[in-house]
Amino acid sequence: MEQQGFTLWFTGMSGSGKTTLARAVERILRDRGLKVEVLNGDVVRTNLSKGLSFSKEDRDTNIKRIGFVCKLLTRNGVVAVGSAISPYREVRDYIRRDIGRFVEVYCRCPLDVLVQRDVKGLYKKALDGEIDNFTGISDPYEEPLNPEVVVDTDKEAPERSVARIVRKLEELAYIPEAPQEEEGAYSEEEEKMIEDKLKALGYL
Ligand code: ADX
Repeated sequence: MEQQGFTLWFTGMSGSGKTTLARAVERILRDRGLKVEVLNGDVVRTNLSKGLSFSKEDRDTNIKRIGFVCKLLTRNGVVAVGSAISPYREVRDYIRRDIGRFVEVYCRCPLDVLVQRDVKGLYKKALDGEIDNFTGISDPYEEPLNPEVVVDTDKEAPERSVARIVRKLEELAYIPEAPQEEEGAYSEEEEKMIEDKLKALGYL
């Protein structure tokens, strides 16, 4: 059966693990032979959304743009993975309705842990007043009310979060169940090697 698209949307504050999880899920879905495209807020802001600020209006524009591309991909059979803070519930719900086949993953992490991690050093700057309208510090983050998956990234190992997200996609029948032998199965390359050996031994 031809692949049917859907949008997998990661929302959560800066540093909450969206990119890491999106990339890991992307790898798994690609390994399963699915077409996947990731749209990451940070990256989109260097091209499609270049010049947009972090005002509510510009953030909503950013999310609507990413959502629009996800919609085009989704209706063309691709798995579109959106990953952006997307702090406002209304616009998230708008793109959910617009796209239809939509799975929301909330990357939840307490602010004090994010401030401690501060991978990009932005929380310190925001706390020092060097960045205005910083999500979680001087700008709101509206939690999703009904996300399909919640991952507590301060408690759960990324592998486990990824497994739960993939499992949810299987449950929703957005992706086929993993073949039983997937764990430890041979890659195409290994299969070819084994076949060659068996041929050389005269078994094939
Ligand atoms: S969104 O609000 O429009 O969804 P998006 O995900 O594209 O945000 O970009 C967030 C990234 O921009 C953060 O991870 C951070 O690196 C950077 N950034 C710069 N300024 C801000 C700010 N004021 N609030 C949040 N993130 C910011």
